[in-house]
Amino acid sequence: KASTQVDKPLAGRRAVVTSGPTHEPIDPVRYIANRSSGRQGHAIAAALAGLGAEVTLVSGPVAIPDPANVRVRHVETAREMLDAVMTSLPADIAVMVAAVADWRVESLSDQKIKKAPGDAAPALILTENPDILKTIGHHAERPAVVVGFAAETQSVLANGRDKLERKGADLIVANDVSPRTGIMGGEHNQVTLISRDGVEHWPDMDKATVAERLARVIAERLISKS
Ligand code: CTP
Ligand code: CA
Repeated sequence: KASTQVDKPLAGRRAVVTSGPTHEPIDPVRYIANRSSGRQGHAIAAALAGLGAEVTLVSGPVAIPDPANVRVRHVETAREMLDAVMTSLPADIAVMVAAVADWRVESLSDQKIKKAPGDAAPALILTENPDILKTIGHHAERPAVVVGFAAETQSVLANGRDKLERKGADLIVANDVSPRTGIMGGEHNQVTLISRDGVEHWPDMDKATVAERLARVIAERLISKS
């Protein structure tokens, strides 16, 4: 039906979205994490579902509720997130919004690390986590439209373009997350879309509106590819 194509352009399409931070344990009571509320990622999952897509949201630990009409898989670490994304394939769309911890503790302690008077502070040896977006962008079962985010505090365009190429993405949504912007943890976002076709600056909008517009852009890209 023509109306289905207009209202639900993603009907019958599958999408996987990551959102939130990852927590990388140091010992049973401590962890390393990035700042991320999950608001933008969750809003994108909801917006894709709103266009008719069958959405799996892979979420790190967040304080916000699961969006409606989306299958949610809760994970903690980057490796769990990668695993949940891979087992959600095949998909037509991948949108990697999570603020994945770049490193994890190489050998985590199975007991709580205790401090004793006079002891030196422990040194943490870190090892790199898998890059989920890069893995998806170069995968044999690569979704037709792969979108990444680039949270930057400087050289937003140059860093965003670099991530587009390095990670094999079709689109990078770049934003300036310097503390003065108030974007981290807030309700609004000011993004720049970077693709091989060029750059598009969007005005400051609430995260739900960014998500709805982005879902439309993704739908157009997917439909023009197939
Ligand atoms: N990303 C990912 N897995 C990682 C690191 C990043 O999937 N281990 C994804 C993010 O979800 C985002 C994109 O890659 O879509 C860019 O993340 P970002 O942290 O900005 O890039 P990095 O490559 O980690 O570079 P850096 O942190 O040094 O800027
Ligand atoms: Ca990073």
